[in-house]
This record gives sequence, structure tokens and C-alpha cells, in this order.
Amino acid sequence: MKVLVVGGGGREHALVWKIAQSPRVEEIYCAPGNAGIARQATCVNIGAEDIDALVRFAREEKIDLTVVGPEAPLTAGIVDAFTAEGLTIFGPTKKAAEIEGSKAFAKQLMEKYGIPTARYRTFANSDEAKEYIREIGAPVVVKADGLAAGKGVIVAQDVDTALQAVTDIMENKVFGDAGNRVVVEEYLEGEEVSILAFTDGRTVVPMVSSQDHKRVFDGDQGPNTGGMGAYSPAPVYTDEIARYVYDRILLPAVQGLAAEGRPYKGVLYAGLIITQDGPKVLEFNARFGDPETQAVLVRLESDLVEIMEAVIEERLHQVEIKWRPEAAVCVVMASGGYPGSYRKGFPIFGLDDVPEGTVVFHAGTAEKDGQIVTAGGRVLGVTALGPDIATAVRNAYAAVEKISFQDAHYRRDIGYRALRR
Ligand code: AMP
Ligand code: GLY
Repeated sequence: MKVLVVGGGGREHALVWKIAQSPRVEEIYCAPGNAGIARQATCVNIGAEDIDALVRFAREEKIDLTVVGPEAPLTAGIVDAFTAEGLTIFGPTKKAAEIEGSKAFAKQLMEKYGIPTARYRTFANSDEAKEYIREIGAPVVVKADGLAAGKGVIVAQDVDTALQAVTDIMENKVFGDAGNRVVVEEYLEGEEVSILAFTDGRTVVPMVSSQDHKRVFDGDQGPNTGGMGAYSPAPVYTDEIARYVYDRILLPAVQGLAAEGRPYKGVLYAGLIITQDGPKVLEFNARFGDPETQAVLVRLESDLVEIMEAVIEERLHQVEIKWRPEAAVCVVMASGGYPGSYRKGFPIFGLDDVPEGTVVFHAGTAEKDGQIVTAGGRVLGVTALGPDIATAVRNAYAAVEKISFQDAHYRRDIGYRALRR
């Protein structure tokens, strides 16, 4: 069969890498892909958000299965557009993907179905939002309602910062229409964990747990990024917590969406925080996480294509999903300056010198005159397995040390929370 993967980051490289292992797959395309993906798939020069062109391509090439990485095409309705053309696609519809596309909707859903989350209020008026912030005080969290490329959440330690966030989001519209409404919510304390789950709208099968590292510098210092690394499993996620999350969060979310006339198929990602009062939802995403997917998919033993087909055909209950017992660690190598401004086009050395068993997923890379060069903020996701997290960490860093490019920056402490336990 022919598969098309939509997107061009580290997550999509991991998807292509895993899909390529399926004996059922003959050809893989990726739109737009990157230099690493190009080694395993045919890259097509179509942007991930150009839905019309993607539909045309899938029809012309007779693609049997399309898999969507990023949130923007999902919330814009790529699944609806493909389905209307009789094309098979893995992911939630536009209405279902609103669980990520609108934080106000997600909070309302959680409230209605009793899913534990931070106390909150939604505002369409900035004065009212500010009044509420003055009333409840800091710390407090301000969130733009819509998609903001991961930058729409401001965790404010003081009232002034929170008020400024409201001004920026609602008045200065720094995230455009995503800031027509804001969610103001209670600040929660605890360790974070990402739970990605396959669901066909009825059956929910959680994947192995993972944890990402959002801050740019060691010890969780500096600004938030798209993610500087990930590991799996997350030891904070005990069997007891997993049972609670399945019963109280994942299943009610999927059943609630169905009851609201928004049946959800695809990967539902619950961003959780384990507080003193138990796990609570920080956010839902309508897709695989990045970089969590790199650490999770290297542990998947089963055929991902078979799972995806079962999801689409609503027979996920028939599939047994097997995981490797090893731990996995993904260290992101980024361009110096990221998440601020950075330079691109530096040649990357040592990509073929990494020890066997490590996988170097490409995020922001391109090919120039036969050489692989940096082309984005997050450049590579160097991923390794090991019998435990400590060994996987060592293996990943052994590979990182073989790779170099000008101004490369990476965290030295990926996995530290797991190692501290
Ligand atoms: P989100 O995109 O909603 O996951 O938010 C991004 C990050 O902001 C999360 O991973 C947390 O680190 C932080 N965050 C979000 N909501 C809260 C909250 N209610 N309390 C504390 N931190 C939060
Ligand atoms: N790692 C966070 C995300 O994928 O949204």
C-alpha cells in the first residue's frame, strides 16, 4: 500500500520510520518532509496546511492511507476534506480536533464530563479577564483560546505578568484570532506526563507514558520551546495513576466527545500534571506529541499501520498492541538561539557515525549541494533505547557527541526527573 505522511518535523520522521517497517507498505510519501525523511520516503513539496493540494495529490497518487502529524491541518478540517473525497485518513475530524483547537471548548467538555482539571473561567472581554485576575491573584495561568504554535500559555508568577498577557493576547492580538477569548486558570503544581492514546471513538488504548522537557536550558530554566527532549516510560506514571487516568480522563473524554456529536478517531494526547490531589489535565492535543512520539514509537513493537487501520475501521478492540520493555530517550539538538532567532544552513557532521541502535530523527534539516544542513530551530532528535532510563540516556548522549554543527545547543539533563527517583 501507499502511505502519505503530512508534516515535516521530528514527529513525522518517527512516523515515517515506523510506518516503513510495516510489511504492508510499499511506498511512503511525506509532505513536505525534511532531509532525513527523504532517506525513507519520497518528499513532496506541499505544505502541511495546503489541504486542497494534499487532497489532489492523494487522489492522483492513489494513496491508501494518509497520516497527519501537526494540529493545524487537523483543526482546519483535513480529515473531513479527505473523507469527503473517499480517501482514507488517520486523525480526528475538525469538530473532534476542537479539543485542541479551542481551550475554552476543552475546558467546557472537561467540566461537563467531570474530568479533573484546573479551575478556570473563559473570557471574551479583556477588562473582565483582568478584573478576575486581580480578584484571584497570582500565580495564575493565562491561555489564548486558539492555536498559537505552543506559545499561547503564560504561566504568570505575579499579577502584572498575567494582566500583560491578557493585553497582549486580547488587545494586541499577538496570536491573531486565537486570542478572541482567553482561559484564565488556577496554577497547578506537580510533575507533568504525556499520555498519548489510540482511539476509534469507543475503544481507548493508551500508549506507554512519556515526559517532554519544554524549557530550553538544563534544570528547566529559560523560555518554553516546542520540546528539547523526551523519555519513556515516565516513572511518575504508576499503574495506579494509569488506571485512574484511563477511567477518569481518557474514557470520559472520548465518550463525552461522542455524546457531543464529535466522535473522535486518531491519537488523543492528554497533557497531565500529577498534583497532590491526583492527576489533572493541562491540555488535550488532537495528535501525536513532538518530541514524545520519537521516544514512544521506538518502543512500539506492533505494526503501526495495522493499528491505524483498526482505528479508522472502528475495530481497535480487536488489535493487540505490544511494546518493547526497554526505555527510550530522545535528545533534541537545536540551533543556537532557539526558541528566539537563530541562523540556518550550517552543515551537520557525524550523522552516520552514531552507534548502532540509535536513531537520529530529523526535524529542521534540508539538503544543500549534497550536504545535510540545519534548517529549523529544532534540528535533530537523537533517540536511543536501553534496559533502563539511565542506560538509554547514556546511549543517546553517546550518539549526540558524534554529531556536530555550528552553534548546536542541547540540554545535558534529559531524563533527570526519572533518574532522580
Ligand atoms: P499547555 O499548552 O496548556 O499544555 O501549557 C503549556 C505548559 O504550560 C504546560 O506544559 C505546563 O508546563 C504549563 N501549564 C499549563 N497550564 C498550567 C496550569 N494550570 N498550572 C501550571 N502550569 C501550567
Ligand atoms: N510536546 C508537546 C506537544 O507536542 O504539544
